[in-house]
Amino acid sequence: MKTYQQFRLNKKNLGSALLFFFALAVAPLALSQAPSSSAPPDDAAVHQRVEDLLKQMTVEEKLGQLSQLFEFGKEKAIDDAVAKGQLGSLLFVTDPAEINRLQHLAVEKSRLHIPLIFGFDVIHGFRTIFPVPIAMAASWDPSAATKAQTIAAKEARSVGIDWAFAPMLDIARDPRWGRIVEGAGEDPYLGSAMAAAQVRGFQGDYIGAPGHILACMKHFAGYGAAVGGRDYDEAYIPETLLQNVYLKPFHAAVKAGIGSAMSAYLDLNDVPATGSRWLLHDVLRDDWKFTGLIVSDADSVKSLEKHGYAKDVSEAALYAFRAGVNMEMALGFTAYSRSLATALERGQITSQQVDEAVRPILEMKIRLGLFEQPYVDEARSKQVLATPLHRTTSRQVAERTAVLLRNEGSLLPLKKDGYKKIAVIGPLAGSQVDTIGSWAFQFDLPETVTVLAGVKNVLGSRAEVNYAQGVHVQRKFPSFFDQIMHIPPEIPWTDAQSKDEFSKAIHLASSSDLVLLILGEQQKMSGEAASRDSLDLPGNEERLLEAVAATGKPVVLVLFNGRPLDIKWASAHIPAILDVWYPGTQGGNAVANLLFGDAVPGGKLPFTWPRDSGQIPIYYAHNTTQDPGNQAKRYWDEESTPLYPFGYGLSYSKFAFSNLKLSRRECKPGETIDVSVDLENTGTATADEVAQLYIHQQYGSTSRPVRELKGFERVTLAAHEKKTVHFSLGNDELTYWSTATKSWVEEPAGFDVWVGADSTAQLHANFTIGK
Ligand code: NOJ
Repeated sequence: MKTYQQFRLNKKNLGSALLFFFALAVAPLALSQAPSSSAPPDDAAVHQRVEDLLKQMTVEEKLGQLSQLFEFGKEKAIDDAVAKGQLGSLLFVTDPAEINRLQHLAVEKSRLHIPLIFGFDVIHGFRTIFPVPIAMAASWDPSAATKAQTIAAKEARSVGIDWAFAPMLDIARDPRWGRIVEGAGEDPYLGSAMAAAQVRGFQGDYIGAPGHILACMKHFAGYGAAVGGRDYDEAYIPETLLQNVYLKPFHAAVKAGIGSAMSAYLDLNDVPATGSRWLLHDVLRDDWKFTGLIVSDADSVKSLEKHGYAKDVSEAALYAFRAGVNMEMALGFTAYSRSLATALERGQITSQQVDEAVRPILEMKIRLGLFEQPYVDEARSKQVLATPLHRTTSRQVAERTAVLLRNEGSLLPLKKDGYKKIAVIGPLAGSQVDTIGSWAFQFDLPETVTVLAGVKNVLGSRAEVNYAQGVHVQRKFPSFFDQIMHIPPEIPWTDAQSKDEFSKAIHLASSSDLVLLILGEQQKMSGEAASRDSLDLPGNEERLLEAVAATGKPVVLVLFNGRPLDIKWASAHIPAILDVWYPGTQGGNAVANLLFGDAVPGGKLPFTWPRDSGQIPIYYAHNTTQDPGNQAKRYWDEESTPLYPFGYGLSYSKFAFSNLKLSRRECKPGETIDVSVDLENTGTATADEVAQLYIHQQYGSTSRPVRELKGFERVTLAAHEKKTVHFSLGNDELTYWSTATKSWVEEPAGFDVWVGADSTAQLHANFTIGK
């Protein structure tokens, strides 16, 4: 794929470049007619256009571009600022008519006709909702994430949204942190693959590709390491972890050509990320050569004051600006709009710095074609949203994300004709909003298929399907989003109602041939401001689970979750457990297909699944210890191994790995070793396995993790089919940041290699890097 940075004028695209120059010349006349560019524009032409605009802009207009505000309805102050050309962007406007109204103000009323750029949290779909990002990571199939985000981009763009505040690339090793649901889990290699895949989906082949939108990597950086898993708390991340783990997916996104980044809320190593010139300038711009636009998280500039980093809001604006935040995202007003003009007059910032801040904003607007095509076709947006193709893709992606955790006696897949009466039990079974998951706002509830509906769809008249909720989950505190969206608190069940519903569920289980128990967390229990101090099944779900199991009926546990949950008891007593995360618009159909064998689970865990919250943090890539043989016996009262390892997931088929071969046993730094392994489907169903390659550097200038994922491929094989899977280990895989040398090193050392179905793979080989 060519990134916009790599694009160069050549003979082939000369024609489109000329067209682009022509478009520039006639832009003011051709506003809503010009087609979006089918080839990336020439960099030099874009930069020239930015400079031409800058020359014409007043200080107020330049500073205005640096502000982005939430708009939740028509607001006079916002309209006025837009008409004066003193606002660069709005977020949370999703109605195409309102987007056009505002854009007309910007383009027709403002002096230089500079369009607004509209941003939104397009996290896992816009109207058609896909499985949550942690689920997409569990597919171990980057192409599935690309497909999902391509559709998300297309739907968002069709209503006039040009900019997604995604992908979220925070590594999370503490599942109490609610935002683990938005990322790819604990591993930098998987996280990097998912990062690049999502950038491709959102942006297409280049920024401004038709039907695509600008992506924004967030939250830069370290937010996932919040102390105690408490959202917004500070993080202390040593350099070795920052470089080798937490920053890796962000760097991958930059290499994939991402056009924007969001500075995080958190206070990282005592410097809030939004005020950290080291992060935003030295790492991002100097080391990684990022040329895109940096936006703050919502109110994170003003928060510099709350962090006790700036003495007041003016100083907060100054620090964020100097650190390199181009655009301030805020509610109500921006600190930039209140303070930067004075800072300029006082000489605290220079006009060159102001120009530098504005450049990437104008550049992105130009690349997105907003000057040529500022308005959205309101009628067309209706045809683009939630088409049958989008829904089918959503179902297929959901089918690829489910992880089969247990399947004793091959209870799954269920036979469609095997049961006369099926009980579907649990508070999530019939809940559309929980099927969708957090961080979705524009979904269409009536088209969302619950598990209960999906099971009925698959079985038709073949079985009687009955439902009981059983328990009700009540939060201790109102949820963050309920509060900001003014959703009234749920009405708790009375004691009598709780008793009654519980017995109804047990009675239903006893009188059925099979029980499908749909348990886990409500969607709002994970996401922003949704940390938990325990991983327990919420409310009375554990009691319901054990009581249903006691009926002696075959039970399948279907889990809804954005994080690992404490399912110790279930993992020993419930024969089949299928983790479906929050599977999205078509979730119920996908889950039913998986349960009844029309689809085969092939997902793998993107995190280490602890036995309980006392083991947190627990991750597979820990360092070796002075007594490695006794690794499992560190706690007095619990195993120190996880319940399920990173990369784990079962299938309805069986697979065997053999014949691990390395192209050489010795190499020099910079050389590549080819690794191959044979993978055979030894079962009777066509199914997927994920071949995973792990390495261990045995010694070096610093200690290295016991294992690190360095390659994976999801492979579909027919029964008894065999395939050779190839990996390569080169400089990218073998280099790490050494705190001893303060540099990226590929060191002479011995290395172990394992390939297999999860992070406990046993098939082993080794090699040496010589001097
Ligand atoms: C705050 C969140 O941290 C961020 O992820 C989101 O993009 C912005 N709000 C905008 O909604």
